Amino acid sequence: MIKINKNYLKLESSYFFSEISKRVTRFQQSNPNKVIIKLGIGDVTKALPPACIKAFHKAVDEMADDATFRGYGPEQGYEFLREKIVENDFRARGVDISIDEVFISDGAKCDSGNIQELFSKDIKIAVPDPVYPVYVDSNVMAGRTGKFNQDRYQGLIYLESAQENGYVPDIPMQKVDLIYLCFPNNPTGATATREQLSKWVAFAHKNKALIIYDAAYEAFIRDKTLPHSIFEIPGALDVAIEIRSFSKTAGFTGTRCAYTVIPKQCVAYDETGHKILLHKLWLRRQATKFNGVSYPVQRAAEAVYSLEGKKQTGELIDYYLANARLIKDKMLALGYHCIESNNSPYIWVKTDKDSWDFFNFLLEQAGVVCTPGSGFGRCGQEYVRISAFNSIENVKKALANISEALSGQDC
Ligand code: MLT
Repeated sequence: MIKINKNYLKLESSYFFSEISKRVTRFQQSNPNKVIIKLGIGDVTKALPPACIKAFHKAVDEMADDATFRGYGPEQGYEFLREKIVENDFRARGVDISIDEVFISDGAKCDSGNIQELFSKDIKIAVPDPVYPVYVDSNVMAGRTGKFNQDRYQGLIYLESAQENGYVPDIPMQKVDLIYLCFPNNPTGATATREQLSKWVAFAHKNKALIIYDAAYEAFIRDKTLPHSIFEIPGALDVAIEIRSFSKTAGFTGTRCAYTVIPKQCVAYDETGHKILLHKLWLRRQATKFNGVSYPVQRAAEAVYSLEGKKQTGELIDYYLANARLIKDKMLALGYHCIESNNSPYIWVKTDKDSWDFFNFLLEQAGVVCTPGSGFGRCGQEYVRISAFNSIENVKKALANISEALSGQDC
């Protein structure tokens, strides 16, 4: 008899963003004339930068000619891309990463979901609350948690992020082995200072723990005092893995390209306490289960680092950040609390109402899709996340609709 992995039965029946999408589709079907503006899932709406498109086209043409055609690529990704990453994303910030520490992949979601395979089943895991659901669900699937009870999985340590701590969680009082951090944060948009990250690095050293640092929204940082990479913190190369993505940086959500950096000195331990290089294990895992990102996509990603590419991606991010500022200013003007800095495409709005009720209200009364905070954890129960990924015209329209709906309703 074929038996299932019973850990899957502990999960909610659909992935959070799939559930939202189903609800929006149902609403749209019963209200076919209603114009709906989507500020929910963080999916970009603007076209790929012209520099990326040009490189993409050229690479596709190379694939059409026997003389320049490419089959399977190198296991960790093409060197032309990894060199640019190392040079621009790390060495330019004083971080010494070598190209063989970079693993090109098809997404930060996949990497952050898959990386847990390297670790023992009995480790103690700390996740932020609110949390990007992939960190939690992937560990549930792997059997590292108990049941879902009162909005939380038994066995996980939840690091609460709330208005009181500026949405940057405090170091836990107890020992943990694996810590997920994400800055700029999804969903709150909070950023962490060097001092805050230094505390986490010190904690990881003290506890022989590992930090998985999700920096998918790094390109949105405009405050010059903030670190872009955890590796800017002394000592982090021993205790952290960093995940980055071209999805939000350069509009690659549908094109798929990301990367993970595993420093060679970063270790975990076997049962006898011997150090094992995580780099070696991840290489083994990827070589077995992954065949890389297509050549044209890697060429398109390489173009992000060209002079035109940098200018165009900078403009793309500025566009979404301008939307984010409009959303934040409007929600503040309407009397809601949200983080006031502008280093993220997400605005985390404290509604003081049940987040699904507020989601339904915005959908039905304003025709605006947001993301209910409770899907990110217990600390999100009275919040919604509004995304800046849409056209400025749609954002302005959505904000006008929200204003109008709120002025006419008691919500
Ligand atoms: C989000 O909306 O949180 C993101 O788009 C999800 C993702 O990047 O997978």
